[in-house]
Amino acid sequence: LEIEGKVSKRPADQVRDNMSTGEVEINVDALTVLNRSKPLPFLVEDDVDASEELRLKHRYLDLRRPCLQKILELRHRTAQVVRKYLSDNGFMEIETPVLTKSTPEGARDYLVPSRINKGNFYALPQSPQIFKQLLMISGYDRYFQIVKCFRDEDLRADRQPEFTQIDIETSFLNQEGLLGIMDNLFASVFKEIKGYDLKLPLEKMTYADAMRLYGSDRPDRRIPWTLCDLTDLFKGSGFNAFAGVVEKGGIVKGLNVGARELSRKDIGELEEIAKNFGAKGLAWVKISSEKWGGPIAKFLSDDEKASLVKHADASEDDIILMVADNQGIVNDALGNIRVILGKKLNIIDESKTDIFWVVDFPLLEWNGDEHRHMAVHHPFTAPHPDDVHLLDSEPAKARSLAYDVILNGNEVGGGSIRIHDSNVQSKIFEALGITKDEANAKFGFLLEALQYGAPPHGGVALGFDRLIMLLAGTDNIRDVIAFPKTTSASDLMAEAPNVVSNDQLAELGIKLK
Ligand code: AMO
Ligand code: AMP
Repeated sequence: LEIEGKVSKRPADQVRDNMSTGEVEINVDALTVLNRSKPLPFLVEDDVDASEELRLKHRYLDLRRPCLQKILELRHRTAQVVRKYLSDNGFMEIETPVLTKSTPEGARDYLVPSRINKGNFYALPQSPQIFKQLLMISGYDRYFQIVKCFRDEDLRADRQPEFTQIDIETSFLNQEGLLGIMDNLFASVFKEIKGYDLKLPLEKMTYADAMRLYGSDRPDRRIPWTLCDLTDLFKGSGFNAFAGVVEKGGIVKGLNVGARELSRKDIGELEEIAKNFGAKGLAWVKISSEKWGGPIAKFLSDDEKASLVKHADASEDDIILMVADNQGIVNDALGNIRVILGKKLNIIDESKTDIFWVVDFPLLEWNGDEHRHMAVHHPFTAPHPDDVHLLDSEPAKARSLAYDVILNGNEVGGGSIRIHDSNVQSKIFEALGITKDEANAKFGFLLEALQYGAPPHGGVALGFDRLIMLLAGTDNIRDVIAFPKTTSASDLMAEAPNVVSNDQLAELGIKLK
């Protein structure tokens, strides 16, 4: 509607306190209907009860809802703060190609067929990783880009097939120097967007400590419980299931979840979770000065009980959950139970912001299916200088100069100092079981560029959508993207992906099977 008229104050007894315009009214002189609307498929309001499917189909209406408008505005403002901070600190925003070649982030590529070079394909970038390293070699020693990345992987609540990174690369800085800049970037975002002063420098926790204490490389430290190692305690114990695991080189860990009542059903559900993460079961005890609860209590000697209380820092009525298995399964099972139970019991203080770096990630991990080591971050990540000697003897023990930044239990970013020496790079490819020919076919242009006086360099990428989710307080990544995709990677509104005509296929030299 277009209205012309005079705005005047409403009489005091007609003021509507619940409306932002409740104090005024317009005495209309002229009214024009600019356009008419069909009946809406759903009511456009924050407390909407229409299904997400229907709303995504009419996303342009969904986006009228005030709560989504607020989030997109917050997204816009955050992007401005990031651009301003980085520009003020000597960073240059440079665009990199979208039609390119496979990049090394380890997900599946989206491929685009070439019409001109039939039978050949571009890959959409999983990140600008290689290009930003090339820019360092070109002398643009502080690069950034707010950039779309494409990964064809299984989607979850915090993953989209195309998502946005705040992508950063710098030359000549060591890890300390780079993370310092990032700390200040986070500080300005939190200050401008939340009016909140972050305490700097952000804390750094080693990967080893994160796994030991939380069983996870992205711990939510707002949950107060930590894991304890009980392996020595169960060596030769009367509880054979555990003693047997320790005998075979496995470990036992416990999680003290405090004094509370958990019903058989609750415990059963937790045991199911443990089993989903590969554990054989979930043992538990309830500490008591009289008779301990839990099916395994009867197998424990008094000494073992005393030791358990000490290791788990336990008091009367505390429940301790325990898993025995190999290290990976134990950490996975208890680490996930910690988070799931913590959320279910509502013990997370949502007013708290917990942001910190996890550093010293391992360089390589063993892939049992492929019988070879894989890069934990990507193959251009520098080994920790103190661990280079391990590359020949015990490669899996070598740490790297890779880091992640964790915000309230979410991985909001990650990066590394890169290898700038082609000898070290060859060594890493060797450890990864990548032959010279394979390396050249995949990353030849980077490897060659590294030979023209590449500066020491390193960088990081922040998941912009995830950062906005956390700033906006939503746990659905679709809320922070104007036109998102569903978990089956489709756009319900545009109906993409879709079939194409036979003519288009013929032009590309493609025949469908
Ligand atoms: P990485 O693969 O860790 O690093 O990605 C960086 C950050 O991007 C976010 N992210 C995602 N967000 C939404 N949907 C997805 N599918 C998705 N995948 C990743 C995460 C993650 O921490 N090139 C390196 C960075 C570097 O080394 O500089 C890279 O891409 O928050
Ligand atoms: P059992 O001796 O098999 O009857 O197991 C007794 C309890 O210990 C059950 O609650 C099992 O779930 C649990 N349990 C058995 N093996 C393991 C294991 N490896 N890790 C954790 N819990 C286990």
